[in-house]
Amino acid sequence: MTKIHFERLCKSFEGGLQVLNGVQLGIEKGESHIILGQSGCGKSVLLKCLLGIQKITSGDIIVDGISVQDERRFGEYLRKFSILFQGNALFDSMTILENVIFGANQVRRDKFECRKLAEEKLFAVGLEKRVFDLYPAEISGGMQKRAALARAIAVEPEILLFDEPTSGLDPITGGVICNLLKNTIKSLGVTALTITHDLKVAEFLADRVSVLNQGTVVWTGRTKDMETCGNGYVIRFHQASSLSGTVA
Ligand SMILES: Nc1ncnc2c1ncn2[C@@H]1O[C@H](COP(=O)(O)OP(=O)(O)OP(=O)(O)O)[C@@H](O)[C@H]1O
Ligand SMILES: [Mg+2]
Repeated sequence: MTKIHFERLCKSFEGGLQVLNGVQLGIEKGESHIILGQSGCGKSVLLKCLLGIQKITSGDIIVDGISVQDERRFGEYLRKFSILFQGNALFDSMTILENVIFGANQVRRDKFECRKLAEEKLFAVGLEKRVFDLYPAEISGGMQKRAALARAIAVEPEILLFDEPTSGLDPITGGVICNLLKNTIKSLGVTALTITHDLKVAEFLADRVSVLNQGTVVWTGRTKDMETCGNGYVIRFHQASSLSGTVA
């Protein structure tokens, strides 16, 4: 079953810059899908269109039969999603536990239940009780990522969005976080959509990848088939990534 449909999605900005030019893509329920592309190709714009933060110019995005443009059902549409932002976006003035309770509070009213759910999610991402009462600035980048993930899953979403999930982390911590994301996706059974320019993240996390170039999805498939897919851009992207580790 297809969970998310991008239907000939176009997005241009005033002044005529056409960033997305007919994105056509179906993301299956329960899959981990990655959108790969160079810096500036429109990955973040795509994510903003998906969340209704930016108005689409033409085409449509449909999730479980609901269009992002259906204002009457926008609340129902948006509740399906949770996002792990690139910069984590934890509240500096709240402790780690309070940050996650903030998420839990969106789906639970009872104070005791919220706290219980938040603690459960913090344990699920591998954080120990001793960090619950610390502030974000007092823990490492990897732990902040875990805390942000706990907050993202505390809202019990159907779809998890990851924006450059390993950026700013060293390679070892990045690998640990990727592992955690993979296990989280599997154990929750959610649909996951990740945007990244990092082929290694895609190789590790993706069931399928879509490569975005010049405003469209130029290829969708498994990372292991990229090199032999016949699309010149995809092959160059793969080769450059293999040489440098990432394509910036
Ligand atoms: N609000 C806006 N107004 C005008 N142009 C914009 C706006 N937002 C993004 N753009 C342009 O859209 C293009 C795509 O930007 P986007 O941020 O989606 O790239 P990206 O693929 O996420 O890159 P990166 O990997 O560096 O994050 C860029 O040329 C950018 O300048
Ligand atoms: Mg971006």
